Amino acid sequence: MDGATKVITTEEEKKTAAVVRLKNIGLRGVTVADTKISHVDGENGILIYRGYRIEELAQGSTFEETAYLLHYDELPTEDALQKFRKKLIEARPIPEFVFCALKNLPKESRPMDVLQAAIPILATADEDLDDETRAANMAKAIRLIARVPVIVAGWQRIREGREPLPSDGALSHAENFLWQLTGAQPDPEIARDLDTILVLHADHSFNASTFACREVVSTRAHMYAGVAAGVGALSGSLHGGANARVMKMLQELRNEKDISGWVRSELASGRKIMGMGHAVYKTLDPRARFLKDMCFRLGKKLHEDHWCRLSTEIEETAIAELNTQGKTTIRPNVDFYSASVYHLMGIPLDLMTPVFAVARIAGWTAHIIEEKFADAQEKPALYRPLSEYVGHYCGKTGCVYEPVAKRKQ
Ligand SMILES: CC(C)(COP(=O)(O)OP(=O)(O)OC[C@H]1O[C@@H](n2cnc3c(N)ncnc32)[C@H](O)[C@@H]1OP(=O)(O)O)[C@@H](O)C(=O)NCCC(=O)NCCS
Repeated sequence: MDGATKVITTEEEKKTAAVVRLKNIGLRGVTVADTKISHVDGENGILIYRGYRIEELAQGSTFEETAYLLHYDELPTEDALQKFRKKLIEARPIPEFVFCALKNLPKESRPMDVLQAAIPILATADEDLDDETRAANMAKAIRLIARVPVIVAGWQRIREGREPLPSDGALSHAENFLWQLTGAQPDPEIARDLDTILVLHADHSFNASTFACREVVSTRAHMYAGVAAGVGALSGSLHGGANARVMKMLQELRNEKDISGWVRSELASGRKIMGMGHAVYKTLDPRARFLKDMCFRLGKKLHEDHWCRLSTEIEETAIAELNTQGKTTIRPNVDFYSASVYHLMGIPLDLMTPVFAVARIAGWTAHIIEEKFADAQEKPALYRPLSEYVGHYCGKTGCVYEPVAKRKQ
């Protein structure tokens, strides 16, 4: 039983191994499915949702309209948008027992863990849970899009020892989130900026969390099971968790005099600069440009543009330093400037990734429906890749099993 023996067991595996070597590369460059929902052109820094450039949507659309677009493959008429907004507003109130369950959790619980725990609790309250028709899945999607922000804001209130607030049907999705979070009427400019952020973060093709959602529902699990997996994947520091890590870095560097020295030493010791680099973009992430402008505008308005200036200094120094190492494609991603923007909006550090989820839930549910109904391919498929076994191997008969009492102690 000493040492690992490399074994390829079946003919099928031998064939696959001969044709493709895709192991341990994090599926980079591997196309696993078709999608009609969004597309990332990493070379040219282009992101489209259902054919529309993200720049157009960020400037002209709203989160509600973008969520409609992601789900229905076309922009809504005025009437369709009104109806969709109404459904979202009506779906906001959540059953009391959901908050009762959350109130029993330790107040120091991480908001992403609380959100992930809340998703199956919401499932138990969904009257359409066992109905797998397209209409029922759309109804579930609307409930999830409406309720994820209510959970995030509600948990913030609960951990502060306060009661969650009822939603306000007169407020837009972004405005209502700010209201339920703070209990104050939202500043119109900040609410509009948050709305833009939600549009920018709503979808991003087969990113890790969306792929997790799709993989889970490919087993025919329900939408909530897929979304819970998505929340878990988003929580990681290489994915949605990066925005909070960026803010932590900025706070730690607030009084640092030698930013370039710090950047050099980080890179020299093999550490990554959070909020920079991307698995697909090999140029500036188109969303980062918006967030940088927003950061400076909001920073000036609130007399706090030092966060954006500090970010820019880190960005420029890191790019110059990475260039000298021949790494010429690492640029700020969506998390780099969104961290400062969230901070300026008064969103606590550990709520930054949950706010990402408030936006991404729209993409997750659209992808789950596309996966379930094979909207972009011939028929639904169960994701089931192969792995190469490199563990102990004692031949086809297997290793000799000895009961615990007889085993060498
Ligand atoms: C997002 C990320 C995982 C994508 O990485 P990837 O395409 O898998 O590329 P790798 O991590 O393999 O990086 C390739 C090289 O660039 C370097 N690199 C990538 N991102 C870097 C960063 N932010 N800072 C410094 N170096 C970086 C890596 O160290 C690696 O160098 P090496 O070849 O000498 O080992 C990576 O850029 C990263 O960890 N960024 C920081 C976390 C982050 O912001 N995540 C949010 C993504 S939206």
